[in-house]
Amino acid sequence: RNFSTSLAAQKEVQNVTVFGAGLMGAGIAQVLAHKGGYNVTLADVSEKATAGGQSIISKSLTRIFKKSMADKSAEEQAEAVKKVVDSIKVSTDGAGAVKETDLVIEAIIENVGIKQELFKFLDGKAPKDAIFASNTSSLSIKDVAATISEERKALFGGFHAFNPVPQMKLIEIVKTDQTSKDAFESLTAVAKKMGKVPVSCVDSPGFIVNRLLVPYMLEAIRLVERGEATKEDVDTAMKLGAGYPMGPFELADLVGLDTLSHISSGWRDSRVSTGEISAEAVKESQLLESLVKEGKTGKKSGKGGFHPQ
Ligand code: CAA
Repeated sequence: RNFSTSLAAQKEVQNVTVFGAGLMGAGIAQVLAHKGGYNVTLADVSEKATAGGQSIISKSLTRIFKKSMADKSAEEQAEAVKKVVDSIKVSTDGAGAVKETDLVIEAIIENVGIKQELFKFLDGKAPKDAIFASNTSSLSIKDVAATISEERKALFGGFHAFNPVPQMKLIEIVKTDQTSKDAFESLTAVAKKMGKVPVSCVDSPGFIVNRLLVPYMLEAIRLVERGEATKEDVDTAMKLGAGYPMGPFELADLVGLDTLSHISSGWRDSRVSTGEISAEAVKESQLLESLVKEGKTGKKSGKGGFHPQ
């Protein structure tokens, strides 16, 4: 790669555009602004969606400032929340949102075709040296980047945060065989500036955390289906016997049963035949599928899951 490309890629990230104002996108935007001090734009397709993102951010910051500003009045806490929320621009104009961006982080629906469409559009609108990253938790980063120019592929990587984003310390930085060292280092630096701990992983199913967590949650569900223990005992066992903060059923409710089902069926369809993951690890669970069919998907929907609220 030539020297000027290298210099451009190493320029310091200041403006970050997050696409997708759901739980993950809002959480990432919040931490980028609040902890990282970045100029953040949160973009989505409708004002309803961006308002939803602002509400998620506001609720989370209220929780945070209630503790960190415990000696201050409720008005002062609310003022501090408002200051951070107001500092995050919202946009429904994709092209405008990336006009001067240094980094795009995508956290939209977990669908490869829709992500490809978004990145193809943004590739033509964002500055040539802007870094692109996806927060996908289960798709191949290389597939998500398939529709962008070869130059941009060198500036593309995974930037995977965890739910709840303000609370979870980890970011997985994922590199494809085309991700440049500069882009990888820039993404690592952003994660650090957000106060997170970055780990590095190659582009593989579920990277590190979900590669381990998804088969683990599925096996917990199958264990209960086989009648070997109750879900309550499995949760207690993993909390007290393995030191996990949540048992696998509580975690499945947090992640969303629909998400868990979507990830595992996606891997059954496209990553087992390639030999990237074993069929056994993602074997379908009837119990999981029937709960999803009934719409009992867990915490996000406020309905059902394994521990109905
Ligand atoms: N915003 C701000 N603060 C939050 C928050 C949020 N969204 N969610 C929780 N908190 C804070 C609480 O206010 C509380 O703060 P203090 O300790 O200062 O009082 C703290 O986090 C702990 O919360 P709780 O007391 O309510 O409950 P807890 O001690 O059980 O912690 C938890 C909650 C942090 C979620 C913890 O249970 C945990 O770490 N669970 C595991 C979560 C996990 O594994 N996430 C990864 C999911 S997989 C994923 O995300 C990948 C994917 O792609 C599917």
